[in-house]
Amino acid sequence: MSQFKTLPTLVTIAVAMTVSGTAVAAPAKDHTQIQHNGVKYRKKAESMVKKLSLSEKLDILSGPGMDLTTYQGQDAINLDESKDVSGVAGYINGVKNRKLDIPAIKLADGPAGLRINPTRDNDHSTYYATAWPIGSLLASTWDTRLVEQVGRAEGNEVKEYGVDFLLAPGMNIQRNPLLGRNFEYYSEDPIVSGQIAAAMVNGLQSNHIGATIKHFVANNAETNRFFNDTIADPRTLREIYLRGFQIAVEDAQPWAIMSSYNLVNGTYVNQRQDIMTDILRGEWGFKGLAMSDWFAGNVSGLTSDFSGDVGRDVESAAKQVSAGNDLIEPGGVKADLAASYAAGTLSMEAIDNSVVAILTQVQKTPSYLNYSYSNQPDLDAHAELARQAAAEGMILLKNSNASLPLSSGAKVASFGTTQINTLKGGTGSGDVNAAYIAHIAPALEEKFEVNSELTDYYTTYFAENKQTNDALLGGYEYCEEPPVSEQLQILVDAAAQNDDAAVITIGRQAGEGGDRTNTRGDYLLTDEELQIINAVSAAFHAEGKPVTVVLNVNGVVDSTEWSDKVDSILLAYMGGQETGNAIADILAGDVNPSGKLAQTMPKSYSDVPSAQTFPGTDIDNDGLVDESHYNEGIYVGYRYYTSFDVDTAYPFGYGMSYTNFEYRNPTVVANTLGRKGKKGGLIQLSATIHNSGDVAGKEAAQVYVSAPQGKLDKPAIELKAFAKTSLLQPGQNEKLAFTISARDLASFDASRNKWIIEPGAYQVYIAPSSDINGKLNGAATAPVTFTVSKEIVVSETTPGALALPQGVPTAGLITVAK
Ligand code: BGC
Repeated sequence: MSQFKTLPTLVTIAVAMTVSGTAVAAPAKDHTQIQHNGVKYRKKAESMVKKLSLSEKLDILSGPGMDLTTYQGQDAINLDESKDVSGVAGYINGVKNRKLDIPAIKLADGPAGLRINPTRDNDHSTYYATAWPIGSLLASTWDTRLVEQVGRAEGNEVKEYGVDFLLAPGMNIQRNPLLGRNFEYYSEDPIVSGQIAAAMVNGLQSNHIGATIKHFVANNAETNRFFNDTIADPRTLREIYLRGFQIAVEDAQPWAIMSSYNLVNGTYVNQRQDIMTDILRGEWGFKGLAMSDWFAGNVSGLTSDFSGDVGRDVESAAKQVSAGNDLIEPGGVKADLAASYAAGTLSMEAIDNSVVAILTQVQKTPSYLNYSYSNQPDLDAHAELARQAAAEGMILLKNSNASLPLSSGAKVASFGTTQINTLKGGTGSGDVNAAYIAHIAPALEEKFEVNSELTDYYTTYFAENKQTNDALLGGYEYCEEPPVSEQLQILVDAAAQNDDAAVITIGRQAGEGGDRTNTRGDYLLTDEELQIINAVSAAFHAEGKPVTVVLNVNGVVDSTEWSDKVDSILLAYMGGQETGNAIADILAGDVNPSGKLAQTMPKSYSDVPSAQTFPGTDIDNDGLVDESHYNEGIYVGYRYYTSFDVDTAYPFGYGMSYTNFEYRNPTVVANTLGRKGKKGGLIQLSATIHNSGDVAGKEAAQVYVSAPQGKLDKPAIELKAFAKTSLLQPGQNEKLAFTISARDLASFDASRNKWIIEPGAYQVYIAPSSDINGKLNGAATAPVTFTVSKEIVVSETTPGALALPQGVPTAGLITVAK
């Protein structure tokens, strides 16, 4: 059978599993066009469904499963062997009958680029894809135009390698810094997540391939991920966790959405009619298809680490389809669906609704349209863009005495094994099979005179001490830092004498299937890492020479313990295959850093509002986490730190530049809030950004709103808009425009099921970061004001949706409130 060709890939995966400018946002697509086409495709899908037998319909609702050899309806997949793509994560089955010929549709990960196998049996060609910067780094650019551009290039690879849907972007809220998949996600803030995701979706879909926003919703821990129940109140779910998805759906209409593994308030997300249908389609107008995450909803009975069997729910697939989760992935559950239909627990109406939702999107795909793909995307051009995007999102956290940039040709002493084994991205489905990775050591050599004795030392140390970690969906190499031995101390001392500056790289890896821990070697630095920072700082500072730490990390790490010791800190995250080059561009000043934090760096992990409740609680004492209680409610990230006056290491929105910017003339340009027929109206603002330093640079300006005291408890400030300047020359100005829609300004009144804007005077801070009081650098931001004369009801929502489980009162759950 043709489809057997993909079997080795799928089996490998299964085995791996068992072992272990002035624009405020990217220009929205022409919605009339989307609606118009949507109607056309939907009508056709409605006529197609009439030509399908029950068995064929069920083939469409359930993917073929991971192991194609055991798929009951092998003929139904309708996959042309010559068009298969090795390494895709799943398929939508096709159908071939007398009246219809619908090919199988290919779905591939993921958030940092297309994850397919780079080589194929009996084939000399290679199929490498670009490893783009991780989501957290892209969001830190605060540049929706750039993210859209990345999306266009990334989507071009999807199309030119013959894939139909990219299983990305990931856009869960970074509720806690230890979430193992934070690297795939954008921000702790829903406006940043939503606008960056919308830009990415617009970019991807400009290629006429589908984007799949994921993981919908409140999937904020990886521990025991198939079974963890998120307990959160409706207001928290709507304002923090659903909001970003809403923005992406309303502003970019992704072709698909992937529901998450977790339960919400006692029921699997993918089995919740309120989430999958009432809110997603009813309230937000989602027109795409909804698919499950792989094996979600206990369709398989497998435990989260695939090591045991807890007994599967044979009705799960039917419950999912009935709720509006159209497609079960990877599938293999056609027999379950058939049995449920026979038993009367799955209606023909639900089946048809989902088949129509799927076929509406299928008709737009390259496979359906028989697109003849080249297998030759322009990887060189994409590498250039990846390097640019990576450098734009890296964040300069500290730069005492302007010790960076280093002068060109400076003698640099580079420390750390991560300069040899640089990390391009996280593990799991967020990984990409790229042709290469630009490591830090050779990249520095392109710009500086690098101490070769040290590089040789680390190269040898890495070769002799590297280990392999069996991460889910693929292992990775890593190496602990060496202790500061006599030999290393001699090298440090010599470097301090002979070189001009030191760069120490610290690395951290993580990925799906597990969360990080607040321990040494993970969130905290190891003794060896602290030792090398101490030894290098002592030796270099004795010679009056600067020390920079580069963090090549998947998520934030502690800095409090060591930041005083060094002069500069660059949070480089993981910049994809061009990571080393982008770091070198910034250290050399070829790129002026303009990235800013889209997640807070706390002073101490214990300050995090969810520190006590992450990743969850073992309710039944079986050694596994069962429930995550969102006790902090809406006070996630900076909403908490600013409201409760908790100092941070580096606040949300923060990032330095090699130049300085002044914010001039913050102005409320228009206030049409409450105007009928305009979706509740909007606020328009502007401010002029002036480059008052002496090098060119870009600035990401942020708009924070402080709401008047009303009925609802509100955070001290909330981000409502942002925009980034173009490259401003010294002395140059740019006037930025910002729009706050009524939607984005509103708060959720759970007692009335309404989104409302309360009356009163709103203070608006157009500021360089959430540090509006200038705690970090002494520069407080003066607010401007707009007024709302009477309450505005922006929208009404589904009564009773998202209710807490019986016996859990909101007041008992929320322990963090003003
Ligand atoms: C991940 C998804 C991914 C899917 C297919 C799942 O384990 O959670 O993000 O898209 O696998 O690889």
